[in-house]
Amino acid sequence: MKVGIIGASGYTGAELMRILHGHPHAEVAYVTAHTYAGQRVKDLYPHLHAYGDVTFTEFDAARALDAADIHFVALPHGKAMEVVPPLLEGGARVVDLSADFRLGDPELYRAWYGVQHVAQHLLQEAVYGLPELNAGEIAGARLVAVPGCYPTAALLALAPLAVRGHALDGAVIDAKSGVSGAGRTLSLAAHFAQAEGSVKPYGVGSHRHTPEIERVLSGLCGGEVRVMFVPHLVPMSRGILATCYVRLAGAVTESEVEEVYRGFYDGAPFIVLLEKGRFPETKCVAGSNYCHLGWHLDGDKGALTVAAAIDNLVKGASGQAVQCMNIMLGYGEEEGLQALGIFP
Ligand SMILES: NC(=O)c1ccc[n+]([C@@H]2O[C@H](COP(=O)([O-])OP(=O)(O)OC[C@H]3O[C@@H](n4cnc5c(N)ncnc54)[C@H](OP(=O)(O)O)[C@@H]3O)[C@@H](O)[C@H]2O)c1
Repeated sequence: MKVGIIGASGYTGAELMRILHGHPHAEVAYVTAHTYAGQRVKDLYPHLHAYGDVTFTEFDAARALDAADIHFVALPHGKAMEVVPPLLEGGARVVDLSADFRLGDPELYRAWYGVQHVAQHLLQEAVYGLPELNAGEIAGARLVAVPGCYPTAALLALAPLAVRGHALDGAVIDAKSGVSGAGRTLSLAAHFAQAEGSVKPYGVGSHRHTPEIERVLSGLCGGEVRVMFVPHLVPMSRGILATCYVRLAGAVTESEVEEVYRGFYDGAPFIVLLEKGRFPETKCVAGSNYCHLGWHLDGDKGALTVAAAIDNLVKGASGQAVQCMNIMLGYGEEEGLQALGIFP
């Protein structure tokens, strides 16, 4: 399968190139950049030396359609919705990593992203690309919207409870991310002297992943769910840890909680449920498409803590995108994604 990557010079684009290099059925045939158009891949990213003289070009819809049948779009929000329509009209399938097709509602999009959606006719068609929830819909999709990195971690921690009818309104999601979550573009917050040796919350009450998490949980719970989502920036390159706190109603035992998670994730190849008393850590999933989950129930209070660790660039973006592609094209879900975490 010939594959295109639109926005290949960014962090998620480069990660797609790394993962797809080891994919048995995919060949990267088209790679674009903006600032870096005209440069060779290996000059910008020496770890991608295997791409030889492959060079980034500016996006051109006709050339993209000529070169590949499925495209990953790894552009900033607002730009992705400009390139997706011509790709679909030309008969390609698209896996979009941006937020442009995740919310399904143009007004919600405008409220949180501050711009008018220019491809509203595709919002209903786009399938939310979280395979652990939606594999059936992903299989038949022309357009998949890969979840954000924080929503992936938070939803993998909370979705099993929602599906079992536990009320999640008011759940607390206390999440930490490494600086690559903000992409390759330079920013003051990611400046070494500001990020190193320090941890701080940001986007409190205003982070754009809030409506995405609430929309999915509300759909699963069958009623409006509002969450308290507090992201933090931590001085590491990769990784997300989402520690979620939920107050369960009624008497719930540890074995019931265990059964909820084991039942929901039975057969899910990238979910690792840790043994009792163990909690996930970002280093154990770095470079891999795995999500490690651990939990603790304070039985007397019905207070449940669930923690999820992922690599924001893999299960939180490019690995999950390849997982979606595998499902869309009928390949094995794990193809090209079997690498374990890099530790230490
Ligand atoms: N980073 C993460 O952990 C993560 C996780 C999940 C989802 N996402 C989403 O995935 C998308 C890509 O993220 P990223 O982290 O890879 O971002 P990034 O490192 O900033 O890369 C952005 C890419 O878009 C290109 N680009 C930027 N402005 C453009 C423009 N005006 N016209 C055409 N191309 C343009 C860049 O090209 P040049 O570099 O050549 O200018 C680069 O290839 C974003 O929507 C992001 O929200 C990111």
